[in-house]
Amino acid sequence: MNVQNEFSRYADHYGSYNVIQKKVAERLVAGVKDAPQHLLDIGCGRGAVAEQIAWPYQQLVGIDFAPGMLALHPQGERITCLQGDFDDPKLYASLKATHFDRIFSASALQWSPDLAHTFALIRSLNAPVSLAIFTAGTFGTLFKTAGLPPLLRSADEVERLAKRFFNASCEVVRYSLAFDNTRDMFRYIKRSGVSGNRNVLTYKETKQLMENYPLDRLEFEVLFIQS
Ligand SMILES: C[S@@+](CC[C@H](N)C(=O)[O-])C[C@H]1O[C@@H](n2cnc3c(N)ncnc32)[C@H](O)[C@@H]1O
Repeated sequence: MNVQNEFSRYADHYGSYNVIQKKVAERLVAGVKDAPQHLLDIGCGRGAVAEQIAWPYQQLVGIDFAPGMLALHPQGERITCLQGDFDDPKLYASLKATHFDRIFSASALQWSPDLAHTFALIRSLNAPVSLAIFTAGTFGTLFKTAGLPPLLRSADEVERLAKRFFNASCEVVRYSLAFDNTRDMFRYIKRSGVSGNRNVLTYKETKQLMENYPLDRLEFEVLFIQS
């Protein structure tokens, strides 16, 4: 599998807690070489994918289960935001009434409890896909230092599944984001949403981890799947 590495500094984006998600959406959209007109964005959040699309399109449907996120999504005549769960077959039954030219999903599907089920639902819409999914290398050294297993599926496992459902090519991108101090780094983990806001460590354990973490950077690993 092709693996790319990208390095950034948090200080260049100070105060922004979605530096990596933005880069992911940018790469995902840049991988599309035609100009699809009818677009679906699964787990659209506040619209990182919509913000990257530079070609004129006819329609973009954004799905997210968090109304607070949908409220922050860009609005417009051609944009429809729907509240829905990407694991819910009923959602896909209603989406089938629309033909999509491409299905995007950026930084969201790692939270599917059953990715084979979610991939089968996405495939049922019969459209090419551009999916970016965070994988186990995300916060890899951090989890190792804390003695915890990775939170997410391995890139190999997600790739195997993706190839079962889509005629797609896969690429792993490893991002690292360097910090000037551990306080900013740990605040980033809490606020970025990449950890799924799961507090697995107590305050004392977090403090110990901050002292023992050997890197000045956070690691992120993302599998890009494109058909
Ligand atoms: C890290 S954000 C990414 C948002 C956006 N796609 C981006 O690239 O910035 C993950 C999004 O997935 C949404 N999400 C998570 N699980 C979901 C589910 N089962 N159904 C629909 N949306 C979900 C969350 O509400 C959140 O907006």
